[in-house]
Amino acid sequence: MKNTFKAVPVTERVWWVGAIDWNIRDFHGYQTLRGSTYNAYLIVADKITLIDTVKAPFMAEMMARIASVIDPGKIDYIVSNHSEMDHAGALPEVIAAVNPEKVFASAVGAKTLKELFPIDREITAVRDGETLCLGNRTLAFLETRMLHWPDSMFAYLNEEQLLFSQDAFGMHFASLERFADACDPAILAYEAATYYANILLPYSPLVLKLIEKVTAAGLPFRIIAPDHGPIWRKETGGIIGSYAKWAAQKPEAKAVVVYATMWHSTEKMARAISEGVAAGGLHVKLMDMGAVHRSDVVYELLGAGALAVGSSTLNNNLLPNIADILTYLKGLKPKNLIGAAFGSYGWSGEAVKQIEDVLAEMKVEKAGEGIRVKNVPDAELLARCYELGKMMAEKVRSRL
Ligand code: FEO
Repeated sequence: MKNTFKAVPVTERVWWVGAIDWNIRDFHGYQTLRGSTYNAYLIVADKITLIDTVKAPFMAEMMARIASVIDPGKIDYIVSNHSEMDHAGALPEVIAAVNPEKVFASAVGAKTLKELFPIDREITAVRDGETLCLGNRTLAFLETRMLHWPDSMFAYLNEEQLLFSQDAFGMHFASLERFADACDPAILAYEAATYYANILLPYSPLVLKLIEKVTAAGLPFRIIAPDHGPIWRKETGGIIGSYAKWAAQKPEAKAVVVYATMWHSTEKMARAISEGVAAGGLHVKLMDMGAVHRSDVVYELLGAGALAVGSSTLNNNLLPNIADILTYLKGLKPKNLIGAAFGSYGWSGEAVKQIEDVLAEMKVEKAGEGIRVKNVPDAELLARCYELGKMMAEKVRSRL
C-alpha cells in the first residue's frame, strides 16, 4: 500500500480524484481560513473521462488518486469546464502524461486554455446543449458564461443525474469528508454564503437566468459535484435555493456599519450610527476594518439593506483599509443598499466626500447627507449620527 491518496466513489462510475489544499488562505483577496479543495472527477465509462484537473502543484496528488482506480494512461477524454489556474493549472502536464484521445472545453474555453497554458494540441470546442457519448454514459454541456469566467460551462452526466458545476455551488473548505451531508451544516452554510458573496455576487443577474434556464429544462439533479468543497448528494435543491435567494439580493432588516478610525472619533460616530440603526428596528453588524477582513464584510452584506462607511481623513485621503474595502465592494457590485458616509478629520476632511463618491458609483441610495466632524464629536454631533442611523433603518424598513 504505497499510495495513500485514494479516489472516493461518488457513484458506481464516478470517482472524486481531486486534491486538498489545507493551507491556502488567500484567493485573490478573499480570505480562505478553512483552506480549499480542487475537485476533479473521473468517469469510468466506456470512454474514460476526466472532468477538470487541479492547481499545478497538486498534480501528483490527483494522479495518485486516479491511479488508485485505473491506470491514468487509460484516460480517453479530458473535459475542462473552467480554465482558471486552480482547475486547469495541471492540464498541460496531465495531457503530456496521459495523452488523451481528445480534450474538450467550451468555445471560449478552448481559446482561453491556449492563451493561458503551453498546450500545443487541438482542444475540441463544444457548444451549449451539445452531448458527448462516452459509450455507456452521456455527457451534456451547458454554457455558463461569466459564471464566473467567459469560458465557464457545466457538464451533466445524464444516466447518473449528476451535474459537474465547476466553481458554482462550491465553497473553500478543506476536509476529508467528501459529501456535504457528512459535514457540519453551520460550516457549510457560512462557507457557501461567503463563497457566493466573494466570487459570484457581481454575476447575480446571470445566476438568476441560469437557474431559470435549468429549471425550465427540467433536469433532475441527484448529485451536484462542484470544483471546490463538498459534493451535494442529498437535497441538492437546498443549495440551488440558497443561490436563488442570494442572487435576488432582496434587502433584509439588517445594516452593516464599517469604519476605520485613527483616534476613536470615527469609531464613536460608527457606534452612534449603529445605535440609531438598531433603534430603527434593524439588526446591525458593526465592523472595524482594523479588526475584520474584507471577505467578512461582504459575507455580512449578503442580505443587508444598508451600508454605512466611515473613515478618518489621513493626508487628504481615506484610511487605507477603507480604500481597500470600497475597491473590493465596487467590483462585487452589491445591490439594493441604502448608504451613508461619516468620519472625523483634523484639518482638511476629504474622506467623507470620497466615500460618498464611491457609494454613488455603486448606486447606493443615500440615507442622508454624510456627517463630518473636526477632531472629536460632541454629544450633539453624536445625536446627529444616531438620527442618521435611524433614518437609514427607516428607509430600509420601507422597502421590506
Ligand atoms: Fe475555482 Fe474560477 O476557479
